[in-house]
Amino acid sequence: MRNLVAETHIVPSQFVLPHFVLPTDGAEEPVSAMPGIACMGVDRLLPQVEADLALGIRTVLLFGQPAPGTKAPDGQAAADDEGAVQRAVARLKDAFGDDLVVMTDVCLCAYTDHGHCGLIEGGEVDNDRSLRPLVETALSHARAGADVVAPSDMMDGRVGAIRDALDADGRQGVAILAYTAKYASAYYGPFREAADSAPSEGDRQGYQMDSRNVLEAIREAELDEQESADMLMVKPALPYLDVIAAVRAASAKPLAAYNVSGEYSAVKAAVERGWLDEARVVRENLLAIARAGADVIITYHCRDALRERWL
Ligand code: PBG
Ligand code: ZN
Repeated sequence: MRNLVAETHIVPSQFVLPHFVLPTDGAEEPVSAMPGIACMGVDRLLPQVEADLALGIRTVLLFGQPAPGTKAPDGQAAADDEGAVQRAVARLKDAFGDDLVVMTDVCLCAYTDHGHCGLIEGGEVDNDRSLRPLVETALSHARAGADVVAPSDMMDGRVGAIRDALDADGRQGVAILAYTAKYASAYYGPFREAADSAPSEGDRQGYQMDSRNVLEAIREAELDEQESADMLMVKPALPYLDVIAAVRAASAKPLAAYNVSGEYSAVKAAVERGWLDEARVVRENLLAIARAGADVIITYHCRDALRERWL
């Protein structure tokens, strides 16, 4: 009877699994703070995604790394048509077609030598000058075949700029998932190790959101909608369930929540010590994210959750 009247249900088609793609074929590097997660070359990614598809994971979100020695102040390697992400997109779409939705993270931080998400001018990130390389990166992902581009840089105006460029290139069908309310968070630590994207100086508080604010998230959602975002995102997820609920109430757009690396690591660490029951904690966490109002759940837990039937 409890199942009959349960208010929240999660289905596999809601899940997005992130992947860290390395530029070198054959490479595979486990992420030390994220047990079960490894960065890998394109050739290794394909069988992994095929196995995940069999579990019901229909959507991936790709992050990349540049070839060694190609990080530069302007992050130009992000828009390289032969980059790891671009090659992975092409191979995945070729292999799996419409069975797989391929999303790409659009940002510069893994490609700039200073590790910031935009270009630096006079010691600060220059919002407007950063738009052009971001647009070029999104375009190169779209040309490789990406279904969805997801700008995570948090520069103002980038969603509209990317939409205009995609349309001008005849790519009206490519959707934009905007990282709408991305907070300056301590929970990104393990990801920055995996993506090699930590800022060498300073932090991201100049462009990411202040964790004290929720009305600002609604303003960000309004701007992203005006700029024609197709889906919105709140990130991280569990410390910001109130933000998920607020954005859900303020917008009718599909809403994603990103259960980020540090949220995953914290659960895994407690489980390893025998302090938490992984199956029950992961189920409770993912249900909380859905109950708060997320339609799409981006989480490193989804492979284990589906394989082990934790939901
Ligand atoms: C970079 C980016 C980050 C994440 C996604 N894209 C980290 C950051 O802003 O430093 C975090 C993902 C995670 O922690 O799982 N633009
Ligand atoms: Zn970034």
